[in-house]
Amino acid sequence: MKITYYGHSCFNVEVNGTDLLFDPFIRPNKLADKIDVSKIKADYILVSHGHEDHIADVLEIANQNNANVITSFEVYLWLKKNGLTNGHPMNHGGSWDFDFGKVKFVNAVHSSSLPDGSYGGNPGGFVIESNKKSFYYSGDTALHYDMKLLGETKQLDFAFLCIGDNYTMGVDDALLASSFIKCNRIVGMHYNTFEHTKMDTNSAKNIFSNAGKELSFMEIGSTIEL
Ligand code: NI
Ligand code: MN
Repeated sequence: MKITYYGHSCFNVEVNGTDLLFDPFIRPNKLADKIDVSKIKADYILVSHGHEDHIADVLEIANQNNANVITSFEVYLWLKKNGLTNGHPMNHGGSWDFDFGKVKFVNAVHSSSLPDGSYGGNPGGFVIESNKKSFYYSGDTALHYDMKLLGETKQLDFAFLCIGDNYTMGVDDALLASSFIKCNRIVGMHYNTFEHTKMDTNSAKNIFSNAGKELSFMEIGSTIEL
């Protein structure tokens, strides 16, 4: 699968020729000022929760691509009220078969208000299963024990885990999370964008490699194959 990083927690994952874009926060992110939002292609946009740093560019990118936005019921209603035409609401524990594969909306321990203060429901993460590879996108979350269920019920080839601490898991909890979900190939997200998420990425990579796991931090704008 081809993975492109747009900064913070925003990735495009190409699954069976379909572009899945996660949590677009690009125009307000100075670190991503080289990314041209008007050129981003997306067939689906998956939104983990309502916070600005996950939703800022959803409407723009969704409407320029007529992308289908997969998110919680409350975030879906808010986006619809603000001009979204194509969306698929989900709630925790539910799965749906899309043309590219199966999506399950899973638990996250965090909060979720919308940028204007509206109620955003509860935050979540996603498990994507396809006939090629399967992966977990944690969204913003604390380490929690339900991750063990993912390890017991899913075969994950790789996972995007928040790792920048303060608002989400830090390195030690992300390492435990990778054990809970039984996945050794991790891509870090939600780090270095804000003052309180600055971290030492080299030391984090060493901590993971000493545990026999591989942690990557992608350059903004770069693409890797996983
Ligand atoms: Ni958040
Ligand atoms: Mn966040």
